[in-house]
Amino acid sequence: MWDPRTYLRYGDERSRPFHDLMAQVGATHPRAVVDLGCGPGTLTATLAARWPDSRVTGLDSSPEMISRAGADGGPVGYAVADVRDWQPEPDVDVLVGNALLQWVPEHRELLTRWAAGLPAGAWLAFQVPGNFTAPSHRLLRELAGQEPWRDQLAGRLREAPVDEPLDYATLLADAGCAADVWETTYLHLLPATGAEHPVLTWMEGTALRPVRAALTDDRWSDFRATLGVRLAQAYPVRQGRVYFPFRRIFMVARTGTRAEETS
Ligand SMILES: C[S@@+](CC[C@H](N)C(=O)[O-])C[C@H]1O[C@@H](n2cnc3c(N)ncnc32)[C@H](O)[C@@H]1O
Repeated sequence: MWDPRTYLRYGDERSRPFHDLMAQVGATHPRAVVDLGCGPGTLTATLAARWPDSRVTGLDSSPEMISRAGADGGPVGYAVADVRDWQPEPDVDVLVGNALLQWVPEHRELLTRWAAGLPAGAWLAFQVPGNFTAPSHRLLRELAGQEPWRDQLAGRLREAPVDEPLDYATLLADAGCAADVWETTYLHLLPATGAEHPVLTWMEGTALRPVRAALTDDRWSDFRATLGVRLAQAYPVRQGRVYFPFRRIFMVARTGTRAEETS
């Protein structure tokens, strides 16, 4: 289960890649804009503000996220949906997915299918974390492989949920798109003011969710405490803050060969 409040704890740091992604999308008058895996809708609302004449839709498989997204009113239409079952309507000129595809093992096939289903000149904009070999994730996987958690966590954490930039660039080119793919490592500076290590509270909003779901309360409490100690060693507090490097992979692509003719 996704918890919008926990996820939004580092809202500023999590939203920056979205804005960096969307800055490369040049659509001026898209007919329809769809935000896949829209989460709490905070960022989807910025799409409606940028393109006020467009029909903007946010889809997410989590009813909790959609409930939070719809709570503020506004022009965006939200719905619970699994992106694996979604097909683009013929007027979708911008398709966005921020921090979604790492949760969807079939996403490579989906990117190809969506590119084929969009009109010529449509924009695809996706961002995924590229930090699965970072100390945070390495320590998480190490601990999940140890007693007493190993049995309950078997198969819950995947080694490499995303590919490298070159893989996505070639996949999108093979799907008939002109693609711009790049990576950025953000050096987040997280305040370490509370009792909890900030990288632990960051991970609770995302990567730790499958672990929490699989463990009993007692086991989760031990897991969380042990991981917190290891993260504190890997990411030491300096002057009340922790440096948290975070690599992300971006892809912005346009469908078809008539990209220059449409907006
Ligand atoms: C890390 S959050 C990103 C939320 C939002 N895009 C943002 O950047 O703030 C990932 C979201 O993807 C959603 N998600 C994961 N798998 C999905 C699927 N198969 N179909 C639809 N949404 C999915 C989750 O429910 C969650 O809200």
